[in-house]
Amino acid sequence: MKAPLRVGIAGLGVVGGGTVKLLAHARDLLRQRVGREIVVTAVSARDRAKARGLGCEDVPWVEDAADLATRNDVDVVAELIGGEDVARRVIEAAISQGKHVVTANKSLLSKHGTALARAAEERGVALAFEAAVAGGIPIIKALREGLVANRVTRVQGILNGTCNYILTQMEASGRSFHDVLAEAQVLGYAEADPTLDVGGFDTAHKLALLTSLAFGTEVDLEGVTTEGIERITPLDIVFAREFGYRIKLLGVASATARGVEQRVHPAMVPLDTPLADVSGVFNAIVTQSDYAGKSVFEGRGAGEKPTASAVVSDLVDIARGLRLPAFVRPAAELEEARRSPTDDRVGPFYLRFQVLDKPGVLSIISRGLARGGISIESMIQRGRAPGESVPIVMLTHESREGDLKAALSLIAEEEVIMEPPCMIRIERFQGDK
Ligand code: HSE
Repeated sequence: MKAPLRVGIAGLGVVGGGTVKLLAHARDLLRQRVGREIVVTAVSARDRAKARGLGCEDVPWVEDAADLATRNDVDVVAELIGGEDVARRVIEAAISQGKHVVTANKSLLSKHGTALARAAEERGVALAFEAAVAGGIPIIKALREGLVANRVTRVQGILNGTCNYILTQMEASGRSFHDVLAEAQVLGYAEADPTLDVGGFDTAHKLALLTSLAFGTEVDLEGVTTEGIERITPLDIVFAREFGYRIKLLGVASATARGVEQRVHPAMVPLDTPLADVSGVFNAIVTQSDYAGKSVFEGRGAGEKPTASAVVSDLVDIARGLRLPAFVRPAAELEEARRSPTDDRVGPFYLRFQVLDKPGVLSIISRGLARGGISIESMIQRGRAPGESVPIVMLTHESREGDLKAALSLIAEEEVIMEPPCMIRIERFQGDK
């Protein structure tokens, strides 16, 4: 049998601890499948007591995680610390010492992924990050290997379990975003500072990686237009349902004539399409490509077991000698990302105006939309509260986003409009009915 693959683990939190446990749990299975053992030969973490809880108290301890890179008994450094500064130093040290790297660090890779991939390829080592996007779904492998002969035209995904959980709970209970978020924090489903998740930034990190894999462009986080779910109300969720949609936070990357469009925002998803049925903390991704057509992937995006499963799959690739470019094509050949402006996107929209209930309001809105060249497909107005605020809800025909935004900002100035209009994009899915 071949010599074991020796792994130095940096970080023993949920992901690092889970990886240690899975390597022990699946030891025989992995030996049979891989033809060699994968052993943890050194660990580093902030809290040394964690090693005892995980059964790796006898494994050599390294105070500074970057020192894992210089050890003779380490072939692979698994950077599972998260965050940016220390993690970057650990990864760069590992690459410069000729060690393979496995990481789950989407925020770091979304900012420095191209440079790190280039450095790894120049040094002839792997930079693997299956755990960085949608943990339990092997989407990186799918894009890098399974779909490698395809031209991908679009990637659409629910990439953040916290947001999907909150939206699912809001629909089930009719409660507000803030109520459900507070409960999710108590239950441990949402972080104490939820901005990264609910503001759409975590989804943007993951989308930037998927875009590079799908379209062969440098990782371009700054090119992702990002909106979160904070302004979604139970009222919008109810109206969405009446029109045949469910609201989801989506990350969407598309190849357009002008370049690559990357956007993260709440979207109306038709009820009869696969992403509409993805509930709770689950993630899902739909890819559209020229030969395979539509492919749908669903699974758990976070948590100890799914993420550890992804980390160990990367370790297995390395143990088997599989060395693939991090972003499908060699990093030096990734193209500079040409950004396709979101304002040029054409599609239908959901609009909600909170208006003063008095004669003539509807004509103010429809005139404003008509002036911007926006055509209305359907409309609902319910409730009667003379002199008070009531919702007017509309769906538009295909409209250019920039034109609609300009029209809405003029309409918002009217006295009868009580709060900034709510605009939610309606997402189309190729290959669906
Ligand atoms: N916080 C993320 C989520 C998981 O809620 O999906 C880690 O990216």
